[in-house]
Amino acid sequence: MISSERIPNNVDLSGDKRLQRALEHWQPRYLEWWRDMGPEGFQDHHQVYLRTAISVDPDGWAHFEFVKLPDYRWGIFLAEPVSDRAIGFGDSLGKPAWQEVPGEFRNQLRRLIVTQGDTEPASVEQQRQLGAKCPSLYDLRNLFQVNVEEGRHLWAMVYLLHSYFGRDGRDEAEELLMRTSGNRDKPRILEAFNEPVDNWLDFFMFTMFTDRDGKSQLMSLSESALDPLARTTRFMLTEEAHHMFVGETGITRILERTCQLLKETGGLSEDVHRVGGIDLEMIQRHLNFWFSRSLDLHGSEISSNAASYFANGLKGRAREDSFDDHTVTDAIYDMETCDDGRLSRQEVPMRNAMNEVLRDWYVGDCQGGVQRWNKILEQYGFSDRLYLPDKKFSRGIGIFSGFHFDPQGHPVSAEEWERRKGEWLPSAADKDYLKSIMAEPVYEPGKFANYIAPPRRGINRQPLDFEYVRTEA
Ligand SMILES: [Fe+2]
Ligand SMILES: [Fe+2]
Repeated sequence: MISSERIPNNVDLSGDKRLQRALEHWQPRYLEWWRDMGPEGFQDHHQVYLRTAISVDPDGWAHFEFVKLPDYRWGIFLAEPVSDRAIGFGDSLGKPAWQEVPGEFRNQLRRLIVTQGDTEPASVEQQRQLGAKCPSLYDLRNLFQVNVEEGRHLWAMVYLLHSYFGRDGRDEAEELLMRTSGNRDKPRILEAFNEPVDNWLDFFMFTMFTDRDGKSQLMSLSESALDPLARTTRFMLTEEAHHMFVGETGITRILERTCQLLKETGGLSEDVHRVGGIDLEMIQRHLNFWFSRSLDLHGSEISSNAASYFANGLKGRAREDSFDDHTVTDAIYDMETCDDGRLSRQEVPMRNAMNEVLRDWYVGDCQGGVQRWNKILEQYGFSDRLYLPDKKFSRGIGIFSGFHFDPQGHPVSAEEWERRKGEWLPSAADKDYLKSIMAEPVYEPGKFANYIAPPRRGINRQPLDFEYVRTEA
């Protein structure tokens, strides 16, 4: 069970006074950050119907209550330990998992934890203005659920920094509250987390694709030889699943509404626009953008860092136990590469291709979601389909960055790219249009904005017209 101390936890925090004091010192700074950088306009006078973990086993999630956002019970929850857990991959395969950080891997582990930790508050900052444009109270509540859990994920990483990295860890924990998304001088570490997310189409694509990168990173960290890191990330994954649910079903509902409007108006994008819907091409452009940004988050295709993380047992592959070979010393990855813009293939030692292995897993996971979206188009009798762009399309990191490819992966010249990028990626006109249809938030229980269909069911079996976010008089 989770204790109900000032900082809820299942790590016996009160048994470690030094750590408890350090975290109690960090807590007010966190709350200050939340008030300044968290959901704008929903801090003091709104009660939100939120799910809070009261224990870390599966039924620990069944607890829902109305809370003010700053009063959410952020805390430190680790998945239950696996007894006699052994290292599952790399050069130390089969040796006991570590309960402390080995000195020789300290810097690498700190870097992994800080990079993961930085994404959590970043996404809260990116999404802070969405409340004032929400399509319904149901969606508003989901946004806030995602936000508080990302806040808690920051707590999870800060707990590791404070517990295992001494002075450096404490400094890093402070820095995590000082960088801000999109800030010119002190931006967030990874590029996708500096992009604005200021309309709900971006939000749903972000939670579908960028939170899913979170899933692949967390899955690979949950294999780590550092047992506290493995247990922390394992519990974070249970929260992450809801974020992807929000993204996937959000787009499903937009597609449903778009299909209805296409049927009603005669089947042209212009007609969908005329009645305030979001046409399929615009949806595809946003998909292209967030998918390619999220591919970048997996890092360079050929990476000695990735090889070293794997060799040292710090970061494995998603579902490491589904592989036969856990040391991967001889295997080769047949990789598509790019020599001065010319495509070729190269045999890369598998350990150096670990980022690519994880990216492949990620692409497969995304593909499943896109197939589910296409079922909607099929049900409505349309032949149009959404698709994932090629891995080479619009990349900012890795061997394909600096070259231009169309969404099918064919090389295109810089001129053609300039001429056609408006077909492939969201344009300023798209953003203006989305802003215009989201200008008025929908706060009436049971009502939904015109561009999105209602969900199939409410949260925790509540009706759709339940007042998921209450305004205090
Ligand atoms: Fe997260
Ligand atoms: Fe997330």
